[in-house]
Amino acid sequence: MDQIADRSGRPPQGIGQAVSAAVAEMESDGRTWELLELEHVHKRYSTPGEVIHAVRDLTLTVRERELVALLGPSGSGKSTLLMLAAGLLRADEGAVRFEGRDLATLGRRDALAHRRTQLGFVFQSFNLTAGLTAQENVAIPLLMRGIEHRQAHRRAAQALCEVGLAHRLDHVPQRLSGGECQRVAIARALVGQPKLILADEPTGNLDSETASSVLELLGTLPARGGAAVILVTHDERAAARADRVLSMRDGMLLTQARGGAR
Ligand SMILES: Nc1ncnc2c1ncn2[C@@H]1O[C@H](COP(=O)(O)OP(=O)(O)OP(=O)(O)O)[C@@H](O)[C@H]1O
Ligand SMILES: [Mg+2]
Repeated sequence: MDQIADRSGRPPQGIGQAVSAAVAEMESDGRTWELLELEHVHKRYSTPGEVIHAVRDLTLTVRERELVALLGPSGSGKSTLLMLAAGLLRADEGAVRFEGRDLATLGRRDALAHRRTQLGFVFQSFNLTAGLTAQENVAIPLLMRGIEHRQAHRRAAQALCEVGLAHRLDHVPQRLSGGECQRVAIARALVGQPKLILADEPTGNLDSETASSVLELLGTLPARGGAAVILVTHDERAAARADRVLSMRDGMLLTQARGGAR
């Protein structure tokens, strides 16, 4: 029997397809959903002399495609918060959930897979591998996921184009400027299309002008690539682009101000 086409000319859908289409439409209508949740989280470091309470009763929700700037003085717990969010540190109390899943329930292998597929990291010190070209550096996370060599390098080249480095694919880090190195690191964080990018003082080693352009680039990621970003920074200018500006002191979240409009 011939299928009856609807007004769009498409054949009729089954219930399952119709529901998926409706969900996809809801998800693409600009609404955002909870991605990361920290609930009453505590983290203590035990040192021979004392116990340092680095994160205290911290509750925070980050939504999909949200750009969150995290400010606070040295030692206030910003990096610890990022490591908790990444599942690199375990909370002593409270829960850290990613898309509703408690990170504490993941075994080592699943936690590693989670970090490789869902997260991207950008650090102050770039952490590029010396002796490998920009393209090879960016391909690494894809190769570690088992993606075939040629495809990994093609996607790495695309990611480098996105950060404005199409002309530097074959340069090793020693032949790149600080800002270019950080762009390579951002491309490496982006290339696997993670849902969350954790950036820990990514402009700390850059001069003011280069820092601005790197902040600008990070600020556009949620809108362009779809990743949420938590950006730890001492740079107040970063706040101008953020959806929210968080401030930490003594392990606690002080304020949750709105950032500038994107
Ligand atoms: N591995 C560790 N062992 C013991 N104490 C630690 C450890 N890591 C961090 N701390 C302590 O925990 C507190 C929070 O550190 P954290 O690195 O999270 O701060 P931060 O806000 O990132 O600081 P900065 O701006 O200097 O990077 C500090 O008092 C620090 O000394
Ligand atoms: Mg830090």
